Amino acid sequence: MPKPVIIDTDPGIDDALALLLAFGSPELAPVCITSVSGNVDVDTATDNILRILARIGPDPAPTVARGAASPLEKESEHATFLHGADGLGGAGGDLPDPWGESAPCLSPESAADSILRHIEQAREPPVLVALGPLTNVALAAQKAPDILRRLDRLIIMGGAVTVAGNITPAAEFNFYVDPLAARIVLDSGPKITLAGLDVTRKARLELRDLHACPDTPRTRLVQRITSSLFTHSQETEGTESIPLHDPLAVALAFRPELCGMEELSLRVETRGEICEGMSLADRRPVLPRLKHPPNARVCLDLDADSFRTLFLERVLWEQS
Ligand code: RIB
Ligand code: CA
Repeated sequence: MPKPVIIDTDPGIDDALALLLAFGSPELAPVCITSVSGNVDVDTATDNILRILARIGPDPAPTVARGAASPLEKESEHATFLHGADGLGGAGGDLPDPWGESAPCLSPESAADSILRHIEQAREPPVLVALGPLTNVALAAQKAPDILRRLDRLIIMGGAVTVAGNITPAAEFNFYVDPLAARIVLDSGPKITLAGLDVTRKARLELRDLHACPDTPRTRLVQRITSSLFTHSQETEGTESIPLHDPLAVALAFRPELCGMEELSLRVETRGEICEGMSLADRRPVLPRLKHPPNARVCLDLDADSFRTLFLERVLWEQS
C-alpha cells in the first residue's frame, strides 16, 4: 500500500521537481499539499502548487491549503533572485491556470489545521515532508504537539550541519527564513530526518542528463522550469548541474537507504549577527551521556548515483 504523505512546500523550482517526483512514485500517496512563504510569497506558492497539480492531474486530488504568509517573528524573505518572480523560473505560464477547472479547489482551512487533520484521519501514520521554511509545521506543533508526534516521520529539507550554508555562510535558506520555527519543530518531538545541504548539494541534475532525455512534453517542461537555475549554477559555481534539494527529501520518504544518517542533537541559532539560522549539532567527541539527547536523524552521506537514477526514471524517463 502506498504511504500517505503530506508535503509542505514553497514552490520554487526544486519544490516543483519534488512534487513531480512525489506524484510519479507509486510508493507514495500524497494526501495534502500545503503552501508556505519562502522562495516566493505564499499566494504565488499556492498558485504554483495548483498549477502543478492541474498539470499532473492526480486522482484522487490531494487537499491543498494555504499556509503562513510570513515567518513566526522575522519579516518575510524570498529567493526570487534564484527561482524567478513567478517561482518557476519564468515558466509558470507553461502550466495550466491555477484557478481553472483542471486545478484542485483550495481548502478553506489553514495549512497547519490541514496538516493536523490529515494526520488524524490518515489510515496509517503519514510522512510529512517539509520543503520550505518550517512556519506551518511549527504552528501545527504549537497547536497540537501530540498529533504531530503521531507522524510516521517528519522529513525536513533544511539546515547545514557539516558544510557551509547557502543564503549566508552559516545558514541554509529554509532555516534562515524562519529560525524560530525550526527551533520549535526540532524541540517538538516527532521522529525527524534532516536532509540538509550536507547531502542535498550532492543530489544533482546534470544538464547532459536532461538533454539526453527523450523529447516529451514533460522533458520540455522541466527544461523550461530549470533553465534559469542551470544558468545560475554556471555563473556562480562553474558547474553544468543544479542541486535537487527538495526532490531528495521526497525520495527519503520511500528510499531512506539513499542516505547514511546519524542521530544527533540539533539546535538552531535564532539570534545572531552572523550566524542567525545556523543549525548546530552536538558532535563533541565525548561520551553520549555527556551530550544533549538526539532530536534528529541527520543525513550525512548520499548514494548520489542511485538517487540520480531514481529521479530521472520517476520524473523524466517514465513520464510523457
Ligand atoms: O536551501 C534550499 C531550500 O531552500 C530548498 O527547499 C529551496 O526550495 C529553498 O526553499
Ligand atoms: Ca523549497
